[in-house]
Amino acid sequence: MTNIALVSGASGFIGPSLCRRLTAAGWQVRAIMRRPVPGPWDESVLVDLGREPLPLETLAGVDCVFHLAGKAHALAQGPGADEEYRLANYRSTLDLLAASRAQGVRGFVYFSSVKAIGEGDSPGRDPGSVSASMSPYGRSKRAAEEAVLVSGAVPHPVVLRPSLVYGPNPKGYLDLIIRAVRAGWFPPLPDLGNARSMIHRDDLVEAAMRCAIDLRARGQTYVVTDGTPYSTRQVYEFILASLGRPVPGWTLPLSLLRVAALGGDVLGRMRGRRFVFDSDVLDKLIGSAFYDGGQICRELGFRPHRGLSESMTEIVESIRSIA
Ligand SMILES: NC(=O)c1ccc[n+]([C@@H]2O[C@H](COP(=O)([O-])OP(=O)(O)OC[C@H]3O[C@@H](n4cnc5c(N)ncnc54)[C@H](OP(=O)(O)O)[C@@H]3O)[C@@H](O)[C@H]2O)c1
Repeated sequence: MTNIALVSGASGFIGPSLCRRLTAAGWQVRAIMRRPVPGPWDESVLVDLGREPLPLETLAGVDCVFHLAGKAHALAQGPGADEEYRLANYRSTLDLLAASRAQGVRGFVYFSSVKAIGEGDSPGRDPGSVSASMSPYGRSKRAAEEAVLVSGAVPHPVVLRPSLVYGPNPKGYLDLIIRAVRAGWFPPLPDLGNARSMIHRDDLVEAAMRCAIDLRARGQTYVVTDGTPYSTRQVYEFILASLGRPVPGWTLPLSLLRVAALGGDVLGRMRGRRFVFDSDVLDKLIGSAFYDGGQICRELGFRPHRGLSESMTEIVESIRSIA
């Protein structure tokens, strides 16, 4: 009998790859979306999760839910962000869990984030630890994770905490850096030895597939990375190499970047809207976000196959083609 997967957030950055992979593995894919868009799924259900009740047929016959829908990729968070994230990431999860329980769904793979552990610079952060500084996004993800794991709504709940996900047509951090380097206004930063964990979209999808079917994943929370931390300087050099440009023979001192960032803070305050470069952006650029993704490798035999360096050309090309 064919397995049925319900994929929320199917039309986002990660969703279509997951749907294609499920189809290739013989699953029937039902996609949740807010607006009808074509894609690699067999059927779709239109609903604004967290705001509208789930149509009755949504979970009928479903074997496993892959819950990706949510609010992410926010570079700035203003007042009211907590409520906004809670609705988008926590409320939607509660609704899907309740409907899964009612329909006797077996598996629930929740796409959380390493941000559920917290922000900051602690290298090799332990997946069980929580940092004191947690963003509204991180808080909403953490609350949703707890609901998935402790609600008892399904017999096979799994939480995935992806680090930054890369692949063609990226969003957020990588998209911004690539566009800035290509436009020539990204400064040649010194190598500050910061370390950011990342994962290729295809590898993350493989991790999710394993979690759905491997009984050992039941009730587990897995950080997912490609195992290689990258400094911002390395990312910058990978982009230059993909664009066929030489690495500049000079670097902009950090002190000058800090002055420019402070100038951005002042401009942002004056116009009541954040400037494109400010202290928050600089902190993200030079800070670390390094996580230990070893548990899923040890327990489920997961092996990431892709790396950022060799993936950069297809990523840069994908941005070039939509620019
Ligand atoms: N990409 C990363 O680097 C990364 C890293 C760690 C964790 N994650 C997590 O992985 C998941 C997928 O990420 P992504 O990068 O694919 O996100 P994305 O590109 O922003 O896509 C989000 C998807 O969710 C849908 N959605 C949002 N709110 C919804 C709602 N209320 N009802 C129904 N659908 C809704 C969006 O539909 P619309 O088109 O209608 O907006 C979109 O299809 C997210 O939960 C994210 O937090 C991503």
